[in-house]
Amino acid sequence: MNSISKYKEITSKYISSLKIEKTPNELYDPIKYILSLGGKQLRPVLTLFTAEIFGAKYEKALYAATAIELFHNFSLIHDDIMDDAPLRRGHKTVHEKWNINTGILSGDAMLILAYQYFENYEPQIFKELAQLFSKTALEVCEGQQMDINFETRTDVSVSEYIKMIQYKTAVLVGAALQMGAIVAETSIENKKAIYDFGLNLGIAFQLQDDYLDAFGDATTFGKQIGGDILENKKTYLYLLALENANTEQKQDLQTWFASTENNSQEKINEVKYIFENTKATLATQKQIEDYTDKALAILNDLEINENHKNELRIFALELMNRAV
Ligand code: IPE
Ligand code: IPE
Ligand code: MG
Ligand code: MG
Ligand code: MG
Repeated sequence: MNSISKYKEITSKYISSLKIEKTPNELYDPIKYILSLGGKQLRPVLTLFTAEIFGAKYEKALYAATAIELFHNFSLIHDDIMDDAPLRRGHKTVHEKWNINTGILSGDAMLILAYQYFENYEPQIFKELAQLFSKTALEVCEGQQMDINFETRTDVSVSEYIKMIQYKTAVLVGAALQMGAIVAETSIENKKAIYDFGLNLGIAFQLQDDYLDAFGDATTFGKQIGGDILENKKTYLYLLALENANTEQKQDLQTWFASTENNSQEKINEVKYIFENTKATLATQKQIEDYTDKALAILNDLEINENHKNELRIFALELMNRAV
């Protein structure tokens, strides 16, 4: 078995063994619920793997990996409230199963639980992890706010979109990798390079998420298909469609994206039709490849064991072709 699949097993066992047996149940049950739905757990796996790459035992990175996954799950609970999303990992979202207040507070508690995991490290490593974590978490909030602001803006540019996804998603992937490097106490150059690899991979990952949101299969993707369209999300698909559209398509697209009706299958179908006809779908695929290539170029320059490099390469390419 290669290291990445080994770490996936270790991560999912470790996360399911977490003891979250405190009261009141109304606060902790939603936390147990979202964690029990699993997910891909790619961020903690990357933390453990990077620790190995830079010469530490993976066990030393387990607390940081757990913190990252708890933070990620917290962000999903709040994101689903903000995006009015009914489905997560093939099941009801927390605020649908309980209510919005529960989602807010259980999410907050999860964020604090995440921070607590860093207390397991000695002062120097603790400080570095906590600094990276706070910086990253703030950037995620900034990215999330941009995403919401863009819903009602009609003049979003491609570079603003890339900045938004870099903040809401990619910085956490970069941080997950850098935390493994911090725990392993490797050089500053290595810490930076592995972060940049993650940043580019994270941008490709969010572009793919946006693509699957419109064109994925609900049973494998586990989220409502077309949710971004209903919420008027300014994705790369949308921005490129607008750029390539003829006058009539442009008018149609803008009219659909001015509506706030949140349950129209017709809107989803019509918008997807324009995405395909303007070749915005192809442009998005190309952009996913370009950011994955950028990540791989950074990897090439990294002085690490060839087997490790290969595993990361395969991981990046699999991510690009995922349906989940
Ligand atoms: C979903 O992340 C949120 C994004 C940043 C796109 P994942 O696709 O990693 O979600 P899970 O954890 O596997 O469910
Ligand atoms: C997620 O972006 C970013 C964060 C959760 C911080 P999305 O809103 O696209 O994620 P999904 O598609 O709901 O998982
Ligand atoms: Mg969302
Ligand atoms: Mg969102
Ligand atoms: Mg999405």
